Amino acid sequence: MKGIILAGGSATRLYPLSKAVSKQLLPVYDKPMIYYPLSTLMLAGIREVAVISTPRDLPLYRELLGTGEELGMSFSYIVQERPEGLAQAFVLAAGFLHGEPACLILGDNLFYGQGFTGMLERAAASARQGACIFGCYVKDPRAYGVLSFDAGGKVVALDEKPEHPGSNYVVPGLYFYDGTVAGKAASLQPSARGEYEITDLNRLYLAEGSLQVQLFGRGFAWLDMGTCDSLLEAADFVATIQNRQGFRMSCIEEIAWRKGWIDSDRLYRLGSCMGNTDYGRYLMELSQTHFNLLSPHFS
Ligand code: G1P
Repeated sequence: MKGIILAGGSATRLYPLSKAVSKQLLPVYDKPMIYYPLSTLMLAGIREVAVISTPRDLPLYRELLGTGEELGMSFSYIVQERPEGLAQAFVLAAGFLHGEPACLILGDNLFYGQGFTGMLERAAASARQGACIFGCYVKDPRAYGVLSFDAGGKVVALDEKPEHPGSNYVVPGLYFYDGTVAGKAASLQPSARGEYEITDLNRLYLAEGSLQVQLFGRGFAWLDMGTCDSLLEAADFVATIQNRQGFRMSCIEEIAWRKGWIDSDRLYRLGSCMGNTDYGRYLMELSQTHFNLLSPHFS
């Protein structure tokens, strides 16, 4: 399975913060925003990732993330001239995907909670044939793709930004699809707002009877970071968890190491390259620890 991070768009809701720099490069407490979605792909076991962004911003992503080799991964970079909807990502990435299953994550989405790795692994497995998306309960669903259920709890409809939502369960920006996704995305027509809608893509899988939906429970956090308030809330959330536990959230170097994609020497070197920072010291200290039953892994 290959991963795609959609980090394009002009993020006008964050102006002037995002006027000269891509939203997904902005800091969220101690790391760039894109580390959060990237870490989710890594937890799903995905090592080949394409970043899609604007012609202006793509060189900065390349500078930040490089080839991926340092993390035992491989990163590709794909230009999106104009943002024309989330489903466009699969058309742009068709050459990268080469008919393989794909996971798309939005560059401003943060997921955090116990048992997440297992959910990701199940999603990746069900997307060998078909699709898997998630559902998350929110107070006001009207700004999102919304799920409707029948009496037995089966998903029967998906609606994009409905005025009268069928439930409070919305679809977060994390989607798993089989190898037919690029062809399906290419067959879509633009919506009334002129976008190739991910909801329309999901409807194709629903109509085929091959759409799986996993619901997050109340103990699970899904945040997006597209406004000044949500950006600040996300930074507070990360700081609160990290300062309490001492573990860093969405630390891509740590995940690569725990997954066995890089060894302890590499982790130490990555830390030492960051100079005299808490982040760098964290990686160096981690590289000298050994797993035991009491050292929390991630799940
Ligand atoms: C997009 C999707 C929507 C989804 C949301 C998640 O919304 O169209 O279905 O629920 O992302 O963040 P947009 O970013 O276009 O408002």
